[in-house]
Amino acid sequence: MCGIVGYVGARHAAPVLLDGLSRLEYRGYDSAGIAVVGAEGRFSLVRRKGRVAALESARALAGNCGIGHTRWATHGAPSERNAHPHRYQNVCLVHNGILENAASLKEACLARGERFSSDTDSEVAVHLIARFLQEEGELLRAVARATALLSGSYAFAVLCEGREEIVCARRRSPLLVAAGEGEAFAASDAAAFPGAGRRAYALEDGEFARLTRAGVEVFDAHLQRAERAFFPLPEEGASSQKGAFRHFMRKEIAEVPMAAQRSLSAARKMANSQLCEVLCQTKYLHIVACGTAYHSGLCMKVAAESLARVPTEVFLASEYRYADPIVPAGGLTIAVSQSGETADTLAAAELAKERGSTLLALTNVEHSSLSRLADVCLFTRAGQEIAVAATKSFSAQLAALYALVVRLAEARGRGAPRLRNVAALCRAAIGAGEGTRAWAPSFTGARSVFFLGRGADRCAALEGSLKLKEVSYLPGEGYAAGELKHGTLALVDEGTPVVALVCDRALADKTMNAVHEVYARGAPVFLVTPFAELARAKEVRGSVLLPACAPVFSPLVSVIPLQLLAYHVAVAMGRDPDKPRNLAKSVTVE
Ligand code: M6R
Repeated sequence: MCGIVGYVGARHAAPVLLDGLSRLEYRGYDSAGIAVVGAEGRFSLVRRKGRVAALESARALAGNCGIGHTRWATHGAPSERNAHPHRYQNVCLVHNGILENAASLKEACLARGERFSSDTDSEVAVHLIARFLQEEGELLRAVARATALLSGSYAFAVLCEGREEIVCARRRSPLLVAAGEGEAFAASDAAAFPGAGRRAYALEDGEFARLTRAGVEVFDAHLQRAERAFFPLPEEGASSQKGAFRHFMRKEIAEVPMAAQRSLSAARKMANSQLCEVLCQTKYLHIVACGTAYHSGLCMKVAAESLARVPTEVFLASEYRYADPIVPAGGLTIAVSQSGETADTLAAAELAKERGSTLLALTNVEHSSLSRLADVCLFTRAGQEIAVAATKSFSAQLAALYALVVRLAEARGRGAPRLRNVAALCRAAIGAGEGTRAWAPSFTGARSVFFLGRGADRCAALEGSLKLKEVSYLPGEGYAAGELKHGTLALVDEGTPVVALVCDRALADKTMNAVHEVYARGAPVFLVTPFAELARAKEVRGSVLLPACAPVFSPLVSVIPLQLLAYHVAVAMGRDPDKPRNLAKSVTVE
């Protein structure tokens, strides 16, 4: 949520900031802005409603030190007045996070006669810093005094007039600082400033950093200089370019085979080491996650319980963190998160750890907050995912989680189907799934869309439904096929297409009963299945014939046509599948 950047160095700051912001735009895209300290020491500030592209006029700003922001609104509508940077007197700031005591602090500022020019929570921080700067004369001390008064989450980058320095502070929102040759950077994510020779450090909660042309100084919570190990920033990869594709979402679906295969191999390697010890001794598995990652957890539950007979609970992290959860002794908690920065998942993972669980992080980002919190990490190898809708990262999570299940089953002396030819299976599912483009006209005018399945199919159905809602804005639900008749069938008619998933022969007749029931009520029915004879049923208006795969692992292939369906429907409806309204990729606030 929100991307922030900072730059100081020999180059003009504005183009560097704009470039960094456009790489962070997946974090929010309702308004954007930059502030640069010019040669005479004064700020130039440009803010715009809309996307980073709207800031083009700021590219020419002169000055070597600046900060920038791309916003996902929390407090205050998306507008120019609420766009960052926020300025008060001689201080300017960008913020990612939520200041929970902003209202009471603002009241105190108003009582002092200070005037506010936005509806944001962030603006109060710039007021406090400006006041303390007058008293302290030093920006770092002023920021430290201000942050001591704040509750909630923040990653700040702060500038003041007359100085070529940026001060950064972090609590529960990600912030990296990096040093290059005669220049220094700050960003919410390493993707902002890829480049050979640059070295970065992810600030920990309560730490501060000062960026100057001489490099980066890190300070602990008591403002003592702290020596920290910096890691090399990766060079720019192909993930950040659309290549021949029109949208990142479609490109990332094309990358599913590679993401799944690489993640499977990584997990297999790990499953023979430290992780194996933890995993194989566990009596209970708990999984905490949000959104798509929660669905991959549900898929793991089906496999872990049926193949390894390990009781597995999957929790929505946003519920778990406030639910006083029972954490069984000797259990393992797996926190699943593509970004490793989702606020709810981090809080749930922290709670599980506090309550004595071993914590395994499954994430796509090596230096993320989640990987730093976990006892043991397993990294998916999906490459950077830019479209807001998770596609290849879901497949990568599934592949890794299924590899763990196989290892777990073996450790318990139980057999498990082999996970073979994963890349080829996914490629075949993409080939078959492209046929969903022809289904789009039946969906574009739909009142609601249902995705039905049982067992593993139900988990894939939930994910298919989330994908379609997210990128097309069509209402819909993923539903247990047998449950429809207990109430929800009342919604079904000619205007509600139904997508049924049937990947397990043992459950096929049962799910087909639901197909008959919705067909009888007029619903257009679409089928995703490896069973050709089912696809030929008279009730079926359209079908995708999947490659054969062990039913327990079938979401690896069955979800792919659903991702493609969501993509094609979104495009047919004129939506931007890469940047759906109201959303951001990395949900770093509650
Ligand atoms: O980075 P995470 O995996 O923790 O993100 C969790 C969810 O916000 C994410 O999966 C979200 O549901 C996707 N954008 C859905 O496509």
